[in-house]
Amino acid sequence: MITFILNNHLIKTEAPAGMSLLNFIRNEAGLKGTKSGCKEGDCGACTVLEGILHKGKVNYKTIVSCLTPLGNAHGKHIVTVEGINTDDLTPVQQEIVNSAGTQCGFCTPGFIVSLTGYSLGRQAGLKPAAIASVAGNICRCTGYKSIEKAALKLADLLKEKDFDHDIEWLSAHHFIPDYFKTIPQRLADIGKRDSSPAQPDMIIGGGTDLMVQKPQLVKVSALNLTLDKPGLTGITQQGNTIVCGGSVTVNQLLDFEPLTAAFPKLKDWFKLVSSEQIRNTATLAGNFVNASPIGDMSILFLALEATLTLVLPTGAKRKLLLKDFFLDYKKLDLAKDEIIESVEFDLPDKHDSVNFEKVSKRLHLDIASVNSAIKVTVEDNIITHASLAAGGIAPVPKYFSKTSEWLSGKPLSAQTLTKAEEIMQQEVSPISDVRGSTSYKRLLLRQLFFAHFMEMFPQVITADVVLPVLKAY
Ligand SMILES: Cc1cc2nc3c(=O)[nH]c(=O)nc-3n(C[C@H](O)[C@H](O)[C@H](O)COP(=O)(O)OP(=O)(O)OC[C@H]3O[C@@H](n4cnc5c(N)ncnc54)[C@H](O)[C@@H]3O)c2cc1C
Ligand code: FES
Ligand code: FES
Repeated sequence: MITFILNNHLIKTEAPAGMSLLNFIRNEAGLKGTKSGCKEGDCGACTVLEGILHKGKVNYKTIVSCLTPLGNAHGKHIVTVEGINTDDLTPVQQEIVNSAGTQCGFCTPGFIVSLTGYSLGRQAGLKPAAIASVAGNICRCTGYKSIEKAALKLADLLKEKDFDHDIEWLSAHHFIPDYFKTIPQRLADIGKRDSSPAQPDMIIGGGTDLMVQKPQLVKVSALNLTLDKPGLTGITQQGNTIVCGGSVTVNQLLDFEPLTAAFPKLKDWFKLVSSEQIRNTATLAGNFVNASPIGDMSILFLALEATLTLVLPTGAKRKLLLKDFFLDYKKLDLAKDEIIESVEFDLPDKHDSVNFEKVSKRLHLDIASVNSAIKVTVEDNIITHASLAAGGIAPVPKYFSKTSEWLSGKPLSAQTLTKAEEIMQQEVSPISDVRGSTSYKRLLLRQLFFAHFMEMFPQVITADVVLPVLKAY
């Protein structure tokens, strides 16, 4: 039995855990405000809020309901555009009207829900965050300027928000209906879901890959739902080591202060990874096991020299370096039913620098043509350790063992990088595909390699040093 609160109503359903939440909302609950557009997570028309109870408070985030397995809604508050309505237009709705931010209206429920999610979040009142909150919503009519205007006006209205009593403040100012105040207690009453099937056919995390690739199969399968599974969630710091549950999402990494302190550019890097709604449910384990050669988390965590802890249903555990996990195209060192329980890596110390770069056809909400990440240790101008990874240039997310090894012990100089770049190119033979030709990918790989060092060591590796090398190519 899957139990959750949909708007102001308790739902108890025996519908399949793998049915999409979107289909449940529209076809079973009869709520047609949530729109069905691309069904691939791209358009945001199906955006709903997901509220999760944590220490007596419900935290809301936006998700795409088309890629959310219904089973992941258990114990949560799901809010559609209908569930936001108050007696009058909410300030979000009013600002969309005032700025003529709706024309045909198909996208509008998604935008309203995303902006309401922004109002409920910790970034409420910040203008860049208001714009970023709708980065996963597409509108074919308005040209976005009017929606941008509404979002910015909303940020002004939210400057006074009382973050200590946000639900009370938002309901007093008609952003959300009063019933939101009753949700924490009602969610606490729901309790845990009945146990998983004894013999699951399929493991599913956030569903953002599987629900695109195999929606029909997911719907009829006995699912091991891992997104909220105890033991697979949460991030901890143990000394200098960070341990992330396999089900940690991309946005949860951003919420963990030691990580944003250690990687000040993390937010900029992750802006290039999917959209707010997808980052809210896309898990690390899902990214690794999907094994896309351009998986952004795979590339970043390869450079961080991450180690996986894998667990079998018997409880038997083993550890494996992420670089040894990817065997060949979509072939992994992973037994059937084996689960990625956690991912661990060391925080950079004062001699370490880390960088991530991604080139895609479109800046936002696009997969990479080529992406790359690197970690280097430099002491007294000598590279004492390096770990380099790149995607889109091999059948697997590629760890450059030879280049990384060769860099160790070399001075940080243009000559070193020029030679290292040659070795790097010898380690791969990219194929031409829809994301680019072989030569284009080699060019991107080269540029990203130099970009890493220009970004990390702007005093030493300058454009003057790098440009002659690139021109010679
Ligand atoms: C619109 C859109 C944009 C995207 N943009 C990007 C992008 O910019 N960059 C990028 O890298 N990816 C992107 N993705 C891909 C996807 O979001 C990520 O790969 C995500 O991390 C997958 O995680 P998930 O939990 O949703 O995986 P799921 O779909 O739940 O699962 C994927 C695979 O992992 C397995 N799995 C899940 N959890 C575990 C576990 N704990 N142990 C073992 N196996 C497990 C599943 O069985 C399945 O085989 C995008 C997807 C969409 C729909
Ligand atoms: S229908 Fe397009 S994102 Fe869900
Ligand atoms: S108003 Fe028509 S798609 Fe946005």
